[in-house]
Amino acid sequence: MQSRFAQRDMEALQELQTAGIYIGGEPVKRFEMDYAQYCGTNFCIGTGNGMDALTIILRAEKQLGRLPEKARVLVPAHTYIATFLSIVEAGMQPVPVDVHDLLITKEVLENHLESIDAAVVVDIYGKLVDDEVYAFAKANNLPIYTDAAQSQGATTRNGDKSGSRGMASAFSFYPTKNLGALGDAGAITTNDEELAVMSRRMANYGRTSRFVNDIKGVNSRLDPLQAAFLNNRLLFLDNDNKKRKKIARVYMEQIENPKVKLPAADFLESNSIHVFPVFLEDRDAFVTFLADRGIQTSIHYAIPPHQQQAFEEFNHLSFPQTQYLHNTEVSLPCHPLLEDHEVQEIVIAINEFS
Ligand SMILES: Cc1ncc(COP(=O)(O)O)c(C=O)c1O
Repeated sequence: MQSRFAQRDMEALQELQTAGIYIGGEPVKRFEMDYAQYCGTNFCIGTGNGMDALTIILRAEKQLGRLPEKARVLVPAHTYIATFLSIVEAGMQPVPVDVHDLLITKEVLENHLESIDAAVVVDIYGKLVDDEVYAFAKANNLPIYTDAAQSQGATTRNGDKSGSRGMASAFSFYPTKNLGALGDAGAITTNDEELAVMSRRMANYGRTSRFVNDIKGVNSRLDPLQAAFLNNRLLFLDNDNKKRKKIARVYMEQIENPKVKLPAADFLESNSIHVFPVFLEDRDAFVTFLADRGIQTSIHYAIPPHQQQAFEEFNHLSFPQTQYLHNTEVSLPCHPLLEDHEVQEIVIAINEFS
């Protein structure tokens, strides 16, 4: 199927080729301006991918003297491994904790407050972490950062957009995200000018001017072609998220199968619906049953970071809720281009599963 963006994308490629722009340039500037405005933040800094975005935020905070060397950073066990890896890559120590339902709660922060230097929270599946978590962190001077890789465009009840909460947020624009590029891409959003300036420097070899590097930085740039593709897609994000929510509402209202557990009743609130999860003991049979009917599902995720060999040091930890989610989750199709009749066929198939 031809992408609905094919024509605009080809034009963007031709424009860049004609202008000879291969690094930086107008599309990156435009995306950074428009995405900051979209999120309601003062600054947006493009990066090579989402994992780099979070690593750069943490490294920049350390450079600014706001986080110590080897800072202890609370992180939900229920996340993609990239969140853990970013913390390690920044020279810090992940402090994994279990989630309540899907997310970190204020109580979890409260219980760990004395033993951590900072927290990274994750808007998993697109569901925004509750406002009271940020309020608690602020009241207790705990630096808090958001892994917003999955929540582009999600909006709280108060109208705050994903990316505008906490000290800074890290976005991934991996192709399958609600706002996805055609390759790797990411961004940082923040209202903090010092952090914005330091992050930009950190992402560009630690460079202050062409020949002067006063800190050890990295090379993680938002590619201008990817920025141009993102510019084409940003205009459609709100509408696409509305369509995702409409599909999710059908699932919430019409899936009736005792074997298939739906997410909590408030799942649709403050959510970009990057993933629509259901939970089953009999996951493999369900996935095969749907695949036989031409319905593709996926799993987010099967093995939590703390149980991976890469994080052997955490293998002894037990997080029952995270483990339950990783053992039972199946992601249903919720792409905005799904037709109503396709959604109905999915519901019928799910209700027939026995
Ligand atoms: C929660 C979470 N964090 C971080 C990342 C890393 O993003 P990227 O693949 O752009 O590095 C992803 C995306 O895969 C993610 O889902």
